[in-house]
Order: sequence, then structure tokens, then C-alpha cells
Amino acid sequence: AVIRREDYQPPDWLVPDIALDFDLDPATTRVTAVLDVVRSSAHGRPLRLDGDGQVPTKVLVDGNPHNDWRMDGDTLEIDLPGSEHRIETEVAIHPDRNTQLMGLYASGGNLCTQCEAEGFRRITFFPDRPDVLARYSVRMTADRKRFPVLLANGDPIASGDAEDGRHWAEWRDPFPKPCYLFALVAGDLSANRATFTTMSGREVQLGIWVRAADLPKTEHALAALQTAMAWDERVYGREYDLDVFNIVAVDDFNFGAMENKGLNIFNSRYILADPDTATDADYDAIAAVVAHEYFHNWSGNRVTCRDWFQLSLKEGFTVFRDQGFSADQGSAAVKRIEDVRTLRAAQFPEDAGPLAHPIRPDSYMEISNFYTATIYNKGAEVIRMMATILGPDSFRASTDLYFDRYDGTAATCDDFVRCMEFGSGIDLTQFRHWYSQAGTPRVSAALDHDAGSGRATLRLAQRTAPTPGQPDKEPFVLPLKLKLFGGETGAALSNEQLFMLDRPTADITFDGVTERPVLSINRGFSAPVIIESDRSSADLKFLSAHDDDPFARYEAMQQLMLDTLVAAVTLGRADHEPVIDAVRRTLEDPALDRAFAAEAVLLPSDSFVGDQLEMVDPEAVFRAREALRRDLGKHLAGLWRSAYANASQAGTFVYSPAAKAARRMRSVALGYIAASGAEDAADVAFAQFEAADNMTDRQGALTTLVNGKSDKRIAALDIFYNRYSGDALVLDKWFQTQALSMRDDTPQVVADLARHPDFSLANPNRARSLVGAFGVNQRAFHMAGGAGYRFLADHLIALDKLNPQTAAKLLPPLGRWRRFDPARATLMKAELERILATPGLSKDLFEQASKSLEG
Ligand code: ARG
Ligand code: ZN
Repeated sequence: AVIRREDYQPPDWLVPDIALDFDLDPATTRVTAVLDVVRSSAHGRPLRLDGDGQVPTKVLVDGNPHNDWRMDGDTLEIDLPGSEHRIETEVAIHPDRNTQLMGLYASGGNLCTQCEAEGFRRITFFPDRPDVLARYSVRMTADRKRFPVLLANGDPIASGDAEDGRHWAEWRDPFPKPCYLFALVAGDLSANRATFTTMSGREVQLGIWVRAADLPKTEHALAALQTAMAWDERVYGREYDLDVFNIVAVDDFNFGAMENKGLNIFNSRYILADPDTATDADYDAIAAVVAHEYFHNWSGNRVTCRDWFQLSLKEGFTVFRDQGFSADQGSAAVKRIEDVRTLRAAQFPEDAGPLAHPIRPDSYMEISNFYTATIYNKGAEVIRMMATILGPDSFRASTDLYFDRYDGTAATCDDFVRCMEFGSGIDLTQFRHWYSQAGTPRVSAALDHDAGSGRATLRLAQRTAPTPGQPDKEPFVLPLKLKLFGGETGAALSNEQLFMLDRPTADITFDGVTERPVLSINRGFSAPVIIESDRSSADLKFLSAHDDDPFARYEAMQQLMLDTLVAAVTLGRADHEPVIDAVRRTLEDPALDRAFAAEAVLLPSDSFVGDQLEMVDPEAVFRAREALRRDLGKHLAGLWRSAYANASQAGTFVYSPAAKAARRMRSVALGYIAASGAEDAADVAFAQFEAADNMTDRQGALTTLVNGKSDKRIAALDIFYNRYSGDALVLDKWFQTQALSMRDDTPQVVADLARHPDFSLANPNRARSLVGAFGVNQRAFHMAGGAGYRFLADHLIALDKLNPQTAAKLLPPLGRWRRFDPARATLMKAELERILATPGLSKDLFEQASKSLEG
């Protein structure tokens, strides 16, 4: 069944209060729910409560046993005479059989919940929709030995002993919330505790709950939480509102983390870190996700979503907020580069493929399939554009207005945009197309110069290709930051200006341009678009050395590299010299931040190069990229060696921006030393692997070895495996590094790893580390013959039986068939058809596969 945004109806019944009583046990948990229900208007419709597979073992209405209820599929329906009633239901659920990891489930011997989007109905009968806000009281009883810690949302109220070695605890959350924010945890956990004093002087008890043995790995997450709490007060004026804030880490989790009110539950990969097991990227991701979930307390919890079509209201905005937080912790330029890279790797392909959807979709079959890069990352770009258009003061005034006006309510994307308008006086009518239209706009930019009159004319045009269900697009509002530089002197010929391209075409004139101008456009990636310019490689080289906007400078280098690689693939030959020269200058520029330089000299990924082509030839892309890497490695051998040596003087491990930059440069340089084919490359890598006092250096060296031809990779993989055999998160890296290898034998290695005793589809992190990573390895996945496609389909079919959500997330690589030659496309479609023909297929996988086939 397809759910449509236009069909939204307010709830028939409200539930101001709910009391839940859990008799917890992994095999069978009894859940009693007492709902105070109120008829929302003068209608005669029955009360309908969502469930998922259960039948109530008991129903009471106003305290009396009630037999006049019926099941309409999974929905419990009760006719009620009046407008206010108290409904009590009891169900029995089975956490240890819950492999979907939605609702109440077991992980590592503990019990935990995940309710967003529609998991609460797997726990008890309730109107499972985000616009029904209730105050929750929760009582839990469980075996004291197995489950010494009992946590739920809000504040702890009371606890005590029960019979037979059991104990109980009561929690109450004073803030009305939708049921997707409900959480409880029962387990054998220890807390790393601290306090935070809010700006109005309230002391909050913080706790990060993990297995006792993992406590030493929680310092970074705890510090990040405190930093994030202070940042949200300073930057958005948002203060925390309960007396306690708990985070629990679990090993089995369908995604990153969850912002349950006062009780965030995290995938342990976004909490646990120490230098020996976590890379710098892991440290950064932990801080970002801790901040993200914390920021949801206002953007998501205090102000929630009216319906799931509004998901980007909380996710796009919260990603924008966490990006701002991370940018303030280190290099803002590098953070922007990383965020754009993520957008291009995950969202642009989505927007160009069969699963394209606007950031506010019009329909869905399964909402879990819409927790996408479009909703999250493009959603964040849309908020960023409004922030750019409004300017910082108006934007802050507008977010204040939004939080103030919608506090305690379930709002819409349009409510948010209206606040931006009220707060700034700017009309965003046309801007709203960003919410309704899918697809990435392409902007062509051509700059003419008339030396005689000193006039330069920039001709801009935008167009957006059709996406499924949207053949024609209205022009978007594109805030484009522009600047001109003199091609001879290098001087700035204009100030940076913000140009709003809101029509299909526009000309901009610049006067007094006395020398040949070079265009710097979409500076800071001010709009999430694809720029098509006719800039020569000389101009791109110039910008890569002189542009004063770091993102634009990075971008010029990327464009130069892309142009070179696309030429190599399509024409069969390319001049590597401009890229080599530009990279040389970047490495030699003493004024340049090392963190930035390390990112700027990296080639675009295989798949991003593939995305530029009419038809992807994965082997040709791989060969072109390897050839350019080899030339860069060889021609700049001395520079890579000295960059490597300089970066190696960092001393013992510290997590600081400067030390991170050094480690990053070291692994980038090592990659180029290996790419050059230098005889000693494997020795250098192996030495680094053995000497490393941190995971960044160790994994960087391992990656280099695993991509190379030397047998040292076997030794390194064994050492790594044995050293970390008890550490699931590090073993995930072991699987993932091999699944991402560019070696010829990767498909075979991956097939073997799928039979490794440590491989399991039941754990989402492990499934993603092998099956997910392989699917995005363009060369390996698309190797001729279709073995990769068969491998992915086999595993999706198997995983679907356990965990449909996680299976559906891994399907999109098969949906890229239109981008490949007929032989590959036929094989890919055959696998999609095989998936669709599987008996008992989930709604999740059905939606993804059927749309990917037809879209
Ligand atoms: N709200 C969570 C977050 O972004 C993610 C929940 C994901 N839910 C899902 N069904 N995929 O922080
Ligand atoms: Zn989120």
C-alpha cells in the first residue's frame, strides 16, 4: 500500500497520558499499557491502535473487561461511546526472537528498544504516528542479576525490590512526546558519569552506559556531549530540559543512533573509541553523532514532525546543526569538503537514479526506506541555503521564532520555512521548490570578456533532469557565491557576491575588468548543484593555487582531476601534466593548512568519476585513475617522501587538529608512494603498520597493503585479525578494508569472507562492513560476469528474512543498471527480478527492488 502526503488527516483520538508496565524477560515480556484517550473532534469513528503481529491478551475499558474489540489486520479497533476513556491492553512480546531490531530486542544479553519510525507498535498497541504526543510513565520489573540497570525516558522516580530476585524502577518523562521517541534499556551496564551546568544554572547528570570493560572507551563521547551542550546554548540558544541525560551503546543497531528523549541509544561504533581501536575519522564521527542526537532534543523532540513526510524537518535541520558544530571543532574548510564529498557519493547518485525523491516526499510504501541521504544530507543543504540567503542574524532570529512558536507541537517543513520568512522578511515562495522537486540542478556557467570595453559577462543557465514522477521542473532558487580573479595578475577583480539564480537563465555583467578574468563559482558549495563551466585546465590550475575560498580551491583541483580522468576514459588518453603540476604546487605551498592540503591532493573516487560518464566502464575508470595515481606518485616521488617523513615526526598519539592533519597527510603520501610502484612501498607500509601507536596509522597502512600486490598484506591481515579478534568494531574494519580493495581478486576474497566464522548477517555493522562495502566498490562489484550482482542479491534475500530494514538499505547499487552497458544491465535487472520473485519478501525490500527495476 502506498501512503500519500496529501492524504494526511489529523488523529481521531489523542492520548494525553500513557502508563506502561513492563515485566521484562528476553523470552517473553509482558507489556501492560494504560492509555487515556480523548476523541479529538465530533466524529463517530472507533479507536484504532496500531500493532504489529500481536493480539492483546487482555483489553479493559474504563477498568472493566471488554470483549467487544476486533483486529483489522494488525490494528486493534474498539468502539467507544464517550469522548474520554481509559484503555488498558496487555500483550506478550519476544525480544530474543526480534531479529528486525525494531521494537524491544536483545543485544549482547541486554534489552533495548528502537521505535523510530514505526517500532513502538511492536511493543504495545498505540496510535503510532508522530502527531500523537503523550506524557509517559514507565515501570519496569526484571531479574536483578541479569538486568541490574533499568533506564527509560525522563527522570527516575522510584525503584525497589520485587519477588524472586527481581527488582523494579519507575521513570517519568514530563515532556509530551510521540511514541517513536520512547525508549527503555535493561542490562548489565556501567556508566561514565559527569555533569553539565546549563546556561540558566541547572545541573544535569550525564551518563554514558556501556559494558564495564568498555568504560575506558567512553571519554571522547562524554567530552563531545559536554561540548555539544555548550555549543547549542551559544549558537542556537537551546538549553537542555531534564535532570538526566543518558546514552546507551549497543552492538546490534540498524543505523547510527537514536535521539529518544533523555535516553539516546547508540550503535556502539559511534560511542566507543580509544587510540588503539578508533581512527581519527571514527573520533570525528562519534563527536558528530553525539552532537546530532543531542541537538535533536530541540530539533526533533521539543518540536517534532507532524507526519513522516516531514522527516527532513528534523533530520535536515539537525544534520545542518551537527555540521556547524563539527566545523567549529577543527578545520571548517576540511569539514565542508568532507560533507560535500558525502553528498556527492551518496545523495547525487540517489537523485539521479530510480529512487530519487524530494526532501519532502509525496508518497512511500515503507518509511524506513526514506531515511536517505536526500532527506538527511540534501535536507541539510537546503537549510544551509536558507541560512546563506538570510544571513546569520536573521537566520538565528528565525530559528528562535521556530523553536518558540512550535515548542511542544508536531510541525511541518512549511512551518519551518514560514518562520524563516517571518524572521527575515524574505519571500521564500519559489525557494520551496527545493522541498517538492527531486533531482540535482545543473548550472552551466560561461564567462565572456571584452578587453576593449572592460566588460565581462557571465551567462548562467540551470536545468534539472526529469526524475521518477516529475518530468518537468520549475527553476530552483540557487544562491551562488561568485568571484572573479585576474588570469594574469592573480588579483581579485571583484568582491565575492551572492547571486540568486532563480530563472532558467541569467546574465551578470562585471565592468572595469581590465585583464582576462577567471571565474570562481559556487564558492563554499553555496548551492547543492553541479556546475558545468568551460574553464580551461590552466584556469583550474590557477584557482587550485590562488582561490581564497578553500572549498573553491579544492573544487578547482577536483574539476581538473575529473576532466583529466574523463578524458582518459572517453578519449583513451589524457595529459597528466596539469594535475601533476597543480598537486606539486599544493604540496609545496608552505602557507597551506596541512589538513586541507591532504584532502586537496586526493583523486576523486572511482564511482564519482563513473557518475560523470554517459555509460560507466568500471575497468576503464579504474585504469585511468590508477595511471594518474602512478604518474602522480612517480613524478612527485620526492615530495611524497618528504611529506611522509615530515608527517611522521608527530610523536605519540594525540587527538588534535594538527596531529590529525599529520596522520592524514601521512596516509595520503603513503598511498602515492605505493601507487608509484616504488620497490620499498610495501616495506614502508608494513613498517608503519607495525610501529603504529594508533588505529589511523595502522589502518592506513593496512589499506595500502590490501590494495597492493605484496604478500605482506596476508601477514598484516593476520596480525590485525589476531590482535583484534575480540573487538567487533575493529573486525568490521578488517572485513571492510578487504571488501573495498581495488585488487583483481576482491570478488573472490569477499565471497570467501562471507563464509568466515566471524561473518554474520544478524549484526548490521558486520553485514554492512562486508556486503555494504562491496556494493559500493565500483570496480569489484561490477566485474564482468555478474558474480558481484549475484552475491549481493543472495545476501539481500537472506538478510531480508532477518532484518528487512538493513537489507533494503543495501539494495541501491543494483539500481544503477541504467548507467552500465547492456550486458551488465541485463545481469543486474535479472538479480532485481530474482529478488522480487522471492516468496515472503518484505515491504522494505519490495519497494526498493521494484522501484529500482522500473523507476
Ligand atoms: N532519528 C535517528 C537519527 O537520525 C535515526 C532513526 C533511523 N530510523 C530508521 N527507521 N531508519 O538520528
Ligand atoms: Zn537524526
